[in-house]
Amino acid sequence: MLAATVAVLPLLADGPVLRDLADTRGITYGTAVTASKLTGAYGELAGEQFGALTPGNEMKWESVEPTRGSYSWSGADRVVDFAEAHGQKVRGHTLVWHSQLPSWLTGGGFPAAELRTLMTDHIAAEAGRYKGRVDYWDVVNEPLDEDGSLRRSLWYEQLGESYIADAFRAARAADPDAKLYVNDYNTDGLGAKSDGLYALVKRLIAQGVPIDGVGFQAHLIIGQVPATLEANLKRFADLGLDVAVTELDIRMALPVTDAGLAQQKAEFARVTTACLAVARCVGVTVWGFADSDSWIPDTFPGQGAATPYDENYVPKPAYTGIAEALGWTGGGDPPPAGSSCSVTHTVQNEWGSGFTAALTVRNTGTAPLDGWKVTWEYGAGQRVTQAWNATVTQSAARVTAVNAAYNAAVPTGGSVTFGLNGSRSGTNPPPTGLLCTTGS
Ligand code: XIL
Repeated sequence: MLAATVAVLPLLADGPVLRDLADTRGITYGTAVTASKLTGAYGELAGEQFGALTPGNEMKWESVEPTRGSYSWSGADRVVDFAEAHGQKVRGHTLVWHSQLPSWLTGGGFPAAELRTLMTDHIAAEAGRYKGRVDYWDVVNEPLDEDGSLRRSLWYEQLGESYIADAFRAARAADPDAKLYVNDYNTDGLGAKSDGLYALVKRLIAQGVPIDGVGFQAHLIIGQVPATLEANLKRFADLGLDVAVTELDIRMALPVTDAGLAQQKAEFARVTTACLAVARCVGVTVWGFADSDSWIPDTFPGQGAATPYDENYVPKPAYTGIAEALGWTGGGDPPPAGSSCSVTHTVQNEWGSGFTAALTVRNTGTAPLDGWKVTWEYGAGQRVTQAWNATVTQSAARVTAVNAAYNAAVPTGGSVTFGLNGSRSGTNPPPTGLLCTTGS
């Protein structure tokens, strides 16, 4: 008999799918995206590998209301629509921040009362537009200075600390079901700035402000990942809030070295493990999944390579580090970009001479599937003796499973499961070469 924990882990011989691995561990693995790039290989990977999307810029104030009273939702809509089509969650980013504000707002010279109304109206408009479609909002972004005091932003200077409570209340009123977060950077480990955040959050809770979670951006540097990350996440969770790693990247000096990539792999794994270790950590989001879509080289000249995929969407050691931290043990390569379905093979039960396996086909593409085929090899002499929900044939080690008439159609983001009984004469290693292809 397999231990119960083993039985629920997918055995992915065709390489890991981060969103599925994360699901089995009870967290969500997300990525920030650029709306205009959500086609081709970039779109395929974003849809296939990640369980949540954060618009990198498209929901910021300067993007949605570049001139007063004139809204532009196309980029934000694109991300939300894409996420819905792929069964993904959405992190809304961000309602109130000191940066990327339109100049009509920063240069408007508004008196305090008017500025407060502008802020709450903005929250009502944006969170209201996406009511029921955004799972988490970064309501207030980066409210702290490095010493842990409140940042002297436009908002704080004009409105005082109460802008934060007002922002959360306006967000709750606009979308009662969204989880409301405060989000900041350099607050990942214990220290003066995270102490300031902790004190702020405690004050908000004491005032009955509707806050649900704390986001830790985790814009990190190789060799400098805080040792106290897990302890820090835990102390916020112990306040009765959810926590999340919201903008993870781990940058290094360019050009990259093998040693740097190896260290980065270990550190992506370590951050992922820290989230898994804290019961109220709901997930990790990487700030861009590919080095070609990362803000780091522009913002920190001479540094980069901060994400799990390289410029050509080839997974880096960091990608494998994440997958391994999520429990992946199989070999094989990640599914090629462009495949529009993924498949997992899970041994559900095992006895002396046989086993039962379930295989789940997921539509990771952008169009409904009309037919699918899964192939793999059983390398230790296992033989399929019975199957359901698919027509399964075997020739030596090679197994082919084709959809039944009634489960050929799979909507985008949807999945179907088929199963089999097999005989075995010895060990029952996971299949190799597990691959899903689509029909006509
Ligand atoms: C960054 C974007 O990735 C860039 O494209 C943009 O030019 C600047 O902002 N903390 C945040 C994010 O909360 O919104 C920032 O995103 C990165 C730092």
